[in-house]
Amino acid sequence: MIEIIPAIIPKNLQEIEEKIKLVEPYVNWVQLDVMDGEFVDNKTWNNPNDLKKIKTSLKLEAHLMINNPEEMIDDWINSGLKRIIIHYEATNKHKEIIEKVKEARLEIGLAINPETSIEVIDEFIKDINLVLIMSVHPGFGGQDFLNESVDKIRQLRERYKNVNIEVDGGVNLETASNIIQAGANILISGSAIFKSNNIEQTIKQLRKI
Ligand code: DX5
Repeated sequence: MIEIIPAIIPKNLQEIEEKIKLVEPYVNWVQLDVMDGEFVDNKTWNNPNDLKKIKTSLKLEAHLMINNPEEMIDDWINSGLKRIIIHYEATNKHKEIIEKVKEARLEIGLAINPETSIEVIDEFIKDINLVLIMSVHPGFGGQDFLNESVDKIRQLRERYKNVNIEVDGGVNLETASNIIQAGANILISGSAIFKSNNIEQTIKQLRKI
């Protein structure tokens, strides 16, 4: 079963609420992209305490593109999220963060950038719920899919039969089939969904691939 998760790169809480409403009838999850202007060259809304104000049936995951997520991880854990994704490249406290998130009964994912090889996952694979393979250099929506990501997805699937593989960046109706055939089971899509003139249709088409 392929999970389609719309991604929001939010300027503020209002944008999160508006975009959740647009996709709520068609999906089970939404991803919030959180950027600190240091780990990536973009800055977004970044206030976990806001999330309790949001009324939605959807499960929320945060993709933390922030340096040293261990400094804010308690706030994110207590914000009502179902899943937290940190970047391998953003900290050396992976084990500490993974343990804390799992103790709080949230799911934990580990994201790797295009330049990071999948071998770094080996020491964490037993402790994490998913691997997020970035198929663009993170920071902005609407970028072109990096085709070398397909081999990386395939390598990871061959290495670990049952791992959840989430792919994020340039995922759309043209790139989705190669991504799925290579072994991904969770597709993150931002502009392909939110810039389309028929969100319901686009999500249905992505799911049919
Ligand atoms: C990193 C962000 C984006 C976003 C998806 O830049 O994580 O990848 O979620 O953006 P699209 O689907 O527009 O490439």
